[in-house]
This record gives sequence, structure tokens and C-alpha cells, in this order.
Amino acid sequence: LTGQDLAGERVLITAGPTREPLDPARFLSNRSSGKMGYALARTAYRRGAEVHLISGPVALPCPPGVERVSVQTAREMHAAVFQLAEKASIIVKAAAVADFRPAVEEREKVKKDKAGLSLQLSRNPDILYELGRNRKEGQVLVGFAAESSNLQAEGRKKLATKNLDLIAVNNINSDTTGFECDTNQILLIDRERDVLLPMTGKEQTADMIWDRVVDLLGKRRDK
Ligand code: C5P
Repeated sequence: LTGQDLAGERVLITAGPTREPLDPARFLSNRSSGKMGYALARTAYRRGAEVHLISGPVALPCPPGVERVSVQTAREMHAAVFQLAEKASIIVKAAAVADFRPAVEEREKVKKDKAGLSLQLSRNPDILYELGRNRKEGQVLVGFAAESSNLQAEGRKKLATKNLDLIAVNNINSDTTGFECDTNQILLIDRERDVLLPMTGKEQTADMIWDRVVDLLGKRRDK
């Protein structure tokens, strides 16, 4: 039993994919279902936190007790995150933010009268990188990484570049971890060590991530 060990914490979680419009009918997106982020929101609320969830388009109901803001694009998510980031004591970025968006959003539907079509893409803001650069005193920052190889090295690199306390690395080349499934297995990396969590349900995984965050909070406050 975990009890109310997140009581008094203001938690900000992002979840789901973003959608980057190309024209009135089409968008670029990814396979994120939002399940991991929603499991984190549900379990954080159960453990006593005040929870804000910024969600891309997903098919999941808002967990009880959680305040949800729905967004579509990476730029909308960026704006919503920075509205709430200042007041958050813990930020978990579980969303699969699109790295690129179509450079132009066409007002009219693109026609298929050509043999081919090239899309010009523009870089989206890296929300987590900006959070890491502007991190508030005492704020705990948790990132996710979806990787298909070199999980440990890639995770460690992102932990450092984005100035994070903790990163949860997912193997997306597996049917039982990462995108769309109900189970997950995460390599959890902080500044001191790496721990491979057991393969289990996303809600249990979420609770194990919170256990580690609570650990990190305790360490901070003891300092
Ligand atoms: O660099 P990469 O996309 O692999 O990093 C993943 C982490 O960064 C996730 O926590 C994701 O939510 C966050 N991210 C972000 N903004 C982006 C891209 C990723 O916040 N544009």
C-alpha cells in the first residue's frame, strides 16, 4: 500500500500523441494511445496529488479527480504546459510530441492531381528541453523516451541534454511494451542508476515510477 505519499504535490502530466494538420482533412501523428500518461494521472491522484493532465487526442476518459486540458498540436501543448508549469512541483512528460509539423497548413484539401507530393516539415518546439532549461528550484522533471535500440545510452543522453531527474525508456520494438499495449516494461534511469522494471500493467508501472519520484523528493528535502 502506497498511501498518500504524493499529498501536497502539484503534478503536471502530458499524455497522448499530438496531431499536426496538413489540410482540413489530414494530419501527421503517431501511435501513442495515451495509456501510460493516463495511468500516471490516475495513480498520482490516488496517492494524494493535485493532478493536471494535458492530453493530445486519445480515446480515454478523464480519470476521476483529474483536471484535463485537451490539445491537438505540439504548439498547443507547449502553450498549455507553460501556463501550468510554474506552479507544478512535479512534471511528467509522457506525451509523444510530434517532432515536426507540415510547414504550411493548407486551407483547402490537397488534391491528388500530381504523380507525387513532397511535404516540407518544420521543427516543433521541444517542450521538455525548454522545461529543463527553465526549471524551477526543487521541481522534479520526468521524461519518457521511445527507443528501438541502445535504450540505456539513448536514455542517459536525453536525461543529460534535457536536464531531467528521471527518464522512463520504452522499447518500441516489442509487442508488450510501448505504444498501444496495456503492459509495459521500462528502463528507469536517474542520475545515479538504471533499473529495469518488471514487465507488468501500465498502472503498476506508473506506481513504480511514482515510488522513484517520491524517493527523489525525499532526497531533495533531506538536503
Ligand atoms: O527527444 P525525444 O522526443 O526522444 O524525447 C522524448 C521526451 O521529450 C518525452 O518526454 C516527450 O514528451 C518530450 N518531448 C517534448 N517535446 C517535443 C519532443 C519530445 O516535450 N517536441
